[in-house]
Amino acid sequence: MNIAVMPGSFDPVTNGHLDVLERALKIFDKVIIAIGENPRKQYLFSVDERKAMLRQATKGLPVEIDHFSGLLTDFAKNKGAVAIVKGLRAVSDFEYEFQAALMNRKLDNEIETVFVMTRGMYCYLSSSIVKEVASLGGKLTGLVPKQVESALRKKFS
Ligand code: PNS
Repeated sequence: MNIAVMPGSFDPVTNGHLDVLERALKIFDKVIIAIGENPRKQYLFSVDERKAMLRQATKGLPVEIDHFSGLLTDFAKNKGAVAIVKGLRAVSDFEYEFQAALMNRKLDNEIETVFVMTRGMYCYLSSSIVKEVASLGGKLTGLVPKQVESALRKKFS
């Protein structure tokens, strides 16, 4: 069984993440969504809230949802994953992702990073911009799952 890990903050999950996930599932038998804690970031949703939203959004798919702290390559190895899946949106993502992929290869040469390009309509989409729009009362129809839209509305009401 070919397993991949898809890391991210997922604060909250967007339709862009789900698009990358669906594409990754065409290549891998199972994807482990790995919610990571980036110490430089402040999160709106707790890990449990992010997990619950991901669980609902991925119902019926061969997906496991977990969280990790520490090195991503250690997490991937412990899970028996052969690859790390990262979504690529625009050129602006590339420099950081390139650096991270090469560092992860240095840390564990057995785990490949696979970049999956999102659908064009999601190229401008990020969890940060979604939170900004939600905080200002804007509509997010078609950009996040319905339950995420309600959760955002609740947070900012
Ligand atoms: O894209 P995001 O949301 O900022 O991702 C957050 C997270 C925690 C998943 C990401 O920062 C990550 O993969 N951290 C792992 C830390 C690590 O292994 N660093 C060394 C090689 S780059």
